[in-house]
Amino acid sequence: MRLQRIVNVADARAAARRSLPAVVFDYIDGAADDEITMGQNTRAFGELSFRPRMAASTPSPDLSTTVLGTPVAMPVLLAPCGFVRAMHPDAGPGAARAAASRGTVSVLSTVAGSPVSEVARAAPGRVWFQLYSAGGRPAAEALMAQASAAGVSVLVVTLDTPALGNRERDIRHGVAAPLRIDARNAVHLGPQVLSRPGWVLRMARDGLFILGTRNASREVPAGTDVRAGPGPAESHEPVTPGGVARPAGHRPHAGRIPTMTASPFSWDDVSWMREQWTGHLVVKGLLSGDDARRALGCGSDAVIVSNHGGRQLDGAPATLKVLPEVAAAVEESGSGAEVYLDSGVRRGTDVAKALALGARAVLIGRPYLWGLAVGGQAGVERVLDIFQAELSRTMVLLGCAAVGELDRDWVQSSL
Ligand SMILES: Cc1cc2nc3c(=O)[nH]c(=O)nc-3n(C[C@H](O)[C@H](O)[C@H](O)COP(=O)(O)O)c2cc1C
Repeated sequence: MRLQRIVNVADARAAARRSLPAVVFDYIDGAADDEITMGQNTRAFGELSFRPRMAASTPSPDLSTTVLGTPVAMPVLLAPCGFVRAMHPDAGPGAARAAASRGTVSVLSTVAGSPVSEVARAAPGRVWFQLYSAGGRPAAEALMAQASAAGVSVLVVTLDTPALGNRERDIRHGVAAPLRIDARNAVHLGPQVLSRPGWVLRMARDGLFILGTRNASREVPAGTDVRAGPGPAESHEPVTPGGVARPAGHRPHAGRIPTMTASPFSWDDVSWMREQWTGHLVVKGLLSGDDARRALGCGSDAVIVSNHGGRQLDGAPATLKVLPEVAAAVEESGSGAEVYLDSGVRRGTDVAKALALGARAVLIGRPYLWGLAVGGQAGVERVLDIFQAELSRTMVLLGCAAVGELDRDWVQSSL
């Protein structure tokens, strides 16, 4: 597909649906339970209206800002996402190169599928690393050491995944989590996989057709092996959001629903990480002013208002709705910490609304994954270009000269 025919993020989603087997498309697209929070994330942006100013526009508005001291050409970052190698072989390095080529930053997930050293090398100074609680402090320490050795200076700690959200689309495909296509479910998945020969070819070239087996060691940090979830008897084992972290070589049964009872991060762990990590520390997954204050109390330099794109607790509030509360808490702290938002950002107008309500920048998840699925690195660049063009036009139509000027005066006071 010619990328120029993708005019907006919805087009990218439709194109991804055409190019991916349903099991992979649904892994990206799906959310928890009844997917209520996911729907509310996007609707919240639609419910907020602007207060544009007439005869005040600048032809080339300034979209640039900084995130924790790093200059970015626009306030749109790539969110950490797992298993991106199943979408396109360009994967984490491709997404990182795309972000860098558009002057922004990508956050590499613990379970993205590429080593942090490889991804950091692809885009020096423009890769942050996201940490999950798999394996407790020893694993966290090892991961932090790897990220630090790779030259990463920003650590993002995700707190909203003490258990994996109930992703029923994955369960129906018989893959549960992590995304796993192997001999056990190949027959069941065969028709949908074979109906996407382009994807099969790409994956075969990448040597990743059997996900979670041959190249599994590249999906997770050294020393751990993310597999399908355990049965109840194994529920004491350390888990990752993708399943169980075990010594490489262990082969659990595929297809069972993960039981997530391992030790999730506590605020004490966040304080401990603050002592271990010399760079900037960001806490991801907060939805209240109280938790923002806790994060700042632990020494966080920034917080990400996020409900994981609705993939964790269904019924969690839309992030735009709680952004003002979090932004006020951070402002009152006088800490100078930064506030970012993700979940449901699909348009340049959404970016402007989030900034108006107190975010310094937003992160996008599914939009860039759809671009990646369709065109690898170039597909991600296409999506970022769409955001850039839409945000620029929004600023002109608003009559606002620079993203740094956006505040509550630019939106109706309904929130
Ligand atoms: C397929 C997929 C995988 C994800 N994996 C992770 C992950 O490994 N770590 C993490 O902190 N968040 C993960 N997220 C959540 C994103 O970082 C982000 O919070 C979310 O996608 C934002 O919502 P959006 O997709 O509506 O833009 C994932 C999201 C998706 C869609």
